[in-house]
Amino acid sequence: MKQIQLGQSNLKVSDIALGCMRMSSLEISEAAKVLDASIAGGINFFDHADIYGGGESEVVFSKAIKELNVSRENLILQSKCGITKQGFNFSKGHIVDSVDGILKRLDTDYLDLLVLHRPDALMEPEEIASAFNELEKNGKVRQFGVSNQNPQQIELLKTAIEQPLVVNQLQFGLKHTGMLDEGFNVNNIYQGEQPSAGLLEYSRREKMTIQAWSPLQYGYFEGVFIGHEKFPELNAALDKLANKYEVSSSAIAIAWILRHPAKMQVLLGSMNVSRIESMIKATDVYLTHEEWYDLYKVAGNILP
Ligand SMILES: NC(=O)c1ccc[n+]([C@@H]2O[C@H](COP(=O)([O-])OP(=O)(O)OC[C@H]3O[C@@H](n4cnc5c(N)ncnc54)[C@H](OP(=O)(O)O)[C@@H]3O)[C@@H](O)[C@H]2O)c1
Repeated sequence: MKQIQLGQSNLKVSDIALGCMRMSSLEISEAAKVLDASIAGGINFFDHADIYGGGESEVVFSKAIKELNVSRENLILQSKCGITKQGFNFSKGHIVDSVDGILKRLDTDYLDLLVLHRPDALMEPEEIASAFNELEKNGKVRQFGVSNQNPQQIELLKTAIEQPLVVNQLQFGLKHTGMLDEGFNVNNIYQGEQPSAGLLEYSRREKMTIQAWSPLQYGYFEGVFIGHEKFPELNAALDKLANKYEVSSSAIAIAWILRHPAKMQVLLGSMNVSRIESMIKATDVYLTHEEWYDLYKVAGNILP
């Protein structure tokens, strides 16, 4: 498994991580198998959020990991907060309380990373900074990041936050390419639905790692495009490359994300051991320039 440096931190992380959003539906023993296969394949990074399964995903994870006897220092644990039943909340009280809940559910003393889940329109950078300082000082959180934020929102946070923002977690995959489409259509009439204000270039320049979420979903995570009858050309192209590189078509779709020079980290969402094992192989596939562009186009995108 390839390792990448996470943003400006000193963390070396697997370029493929396991997203634990869907873990709450598993029995502890099933979750242990998923985690065992992931770790055996070289994954050292696990993404959570306080809202996944209403907190139950974190609980299942911590119980399952205990069955494996893995030492805490060998795991990089990230969780997110800021989504509430009412909307979004980045107030100091909410952030600090959320971390306490996360640590309790994960049964650990510290988080390697805390990520703000979705931008809160009412956010006050100074208040967030104060929460981050407190969490860092008392050793509860080591690094910080954001999710679903554009460069302007990040720059606003940076007016007060002292720690580097290490990651930005964003939806990205062959059927969700807004970040790329915009770059291909500078100064053109562009009908894309996701103007993202130079996110890719900004992330590279600012050394923030993009964590690609829902890498195999189409639309706003409506379903998986792999093998879906709606996307015959894309699947034919994926199958052809899968044959060439002797991996699964899902692995090719993951390799397409990893091929981008932004050096993204992919968050796999599968809770199926054999699928996870097959997708981990993407780390060793390096698509050619031509293959990368061909996939972008057969996914339904038009180049100018
Ligand atoms: N920051 C955010 O706002 C945000 C939002 C959403 C997600 N996330 C993160 O991103 C992670 C991944 O999201 P996701 O679960 O939507 O990602 P995904 O990897 O695109 O989708 C995984 C889902 O697709 C299913 N699936 C069906 N066919 C598959 C195939 N051939 N290969 C692989 N999976 C297949 C999986 O089922 P099986 O389990 O049966 O394989 C699983 O339910 C989450 O766990 C979370 O950490 C972040």
